[in-house]
Parts: sequence; C-alpha cells; structure tokens
Amino acid sequence: MKLAGFTEMKQACSCFPVGVAVVTSRNASGELIGLTISSFTSISLDPPLILICVHENSRVLDSLVGSGCFTVNVLASDQQHMSKIFSSHAADRVENIGWYPGARGAPVLADALAVIECQLREVVRSADRRILIGEVVHAVSRDGFPLVRFRSSYCEIATETIQAANAHTN
Ligand SMILES: Cc1cc2nc3c(=O)[nH]c(=O)nc-3n(C[C@H](O)[C@H](O)[C@H](O)COP(=O)(O)O)c2cc1C
Repeated sequence: MKLAGFTEMKQACSCFPVGVAVVTSRNASGELIGLTISSFTSISLDPPLILICVHENSRVLDSLVGSGCFTVNVLASDQQHMSKIFSSHAADRVENIGWYPGARGAPVLADALAVIECQLREVVRSADRRILIGEVVHAVSRDGFPLVRFRSSYCEIATETIQAANAHTN
C-alpha cells in the first residue's frame, strides 16, 4: 500500500488548528529543561490523562522521562516568543526564563494560559516519536487568548470569539 508523502501529509495536517505549549521539567542537576510542542491531547477526564509526542532526538527527552514528571504550559497569544525560545537550537535557551516549582516540583512558567502538571505514567514508542502519557496531578487555567498554529503559521482567534468563550466558562 502506498503511503501519503511528506509534503501532502504536512499540508493536510497543518489545516488542523492546534494550540502551542511548552513542556517543562528538570534535568538530573535540577535545572529547567523544556521544549515547544503542539502534540498535546487530553486522553480522558476521569482518570485525568493527557499525552504529548516528543521526537526521539530531542535533547530533553531523557530528562523528561528520567524525572518522571513534567508540566504542559499552554501558551497565550502574547507568548509567541516563548514558543520560539523553546523550539530554538540554542544551548542556552532557558537562561533568564522565570519559573517556579509546581505541585510535583516540575517547573511552571509564568503567565501561561493553562498549566497542566503531570506524573509520567507510560512511554509508548512509535516511529521516531515517544508518546508520553501523563497522569494530571494539578490543572489550572485563566481567561485569555490562546496561541494557535494553523498552516505552519502562528495565529490568533478573533477577539469576539474568545471573549464569548471566556464568558461562557465563567
Ligand atoms: C509550534 C511548534 C510545535 C512543535 N511541536 C513539537 C512536538 O509536538 N514534538 C516535538 O518533538 N517537537 C515539536 N516541535 C519542535 C521542537 O520544539 C524543536 O525541535 C526543539 O528544538 C526541540 O529541542 P530539543 O532537541 O532541545 O529537545 C515544535 C516546534 C514548534 C515551533
């Protein structure tokens, strides 16, 4: 069976709008590590489970798995710079990033739209990805505007739409 090609796959999948998050944890020295992701999905509410997919070549994968806990920091629309910092290849990309320890000690970034703190439950291998399944130990969110990716560009959702959605949940 012939499989879809890289370009057609990328173009079609990029039509599915997604949020942007920075996944944070600590390395063996207790320092902040993290990377930008869009592969975040809630698996179930009860039990509270989520998943993220991380490339096997990621420099932070071993720390994410080794620490046993991580935080999904959902970015707000004015945090595009955080997405760029945590997806850059700079060795010192986490310098000067403000954070505080969450419920299980994994770092939490300031001003995130939502913070989902997880205990690592399972790692599943598929192709060149590792699917990390997390049990959510603490979750909090605030009103605001999400950062969105659509067709490989950063986007915002129209103000009126977001205001109506925020009002709906209050
Ligand atoms: C919007 C956006 C979404 C991304 N989503 C993912 C993702 O879900 N999984 C992943 O492994 N990398 C993802 N990346 C790429 C990583 O952030 C990037 O490769 C980063 O440099 C990895 O750093 P590391 O090798 O130091 O871990 C994404 C990048 C951007 C800009």
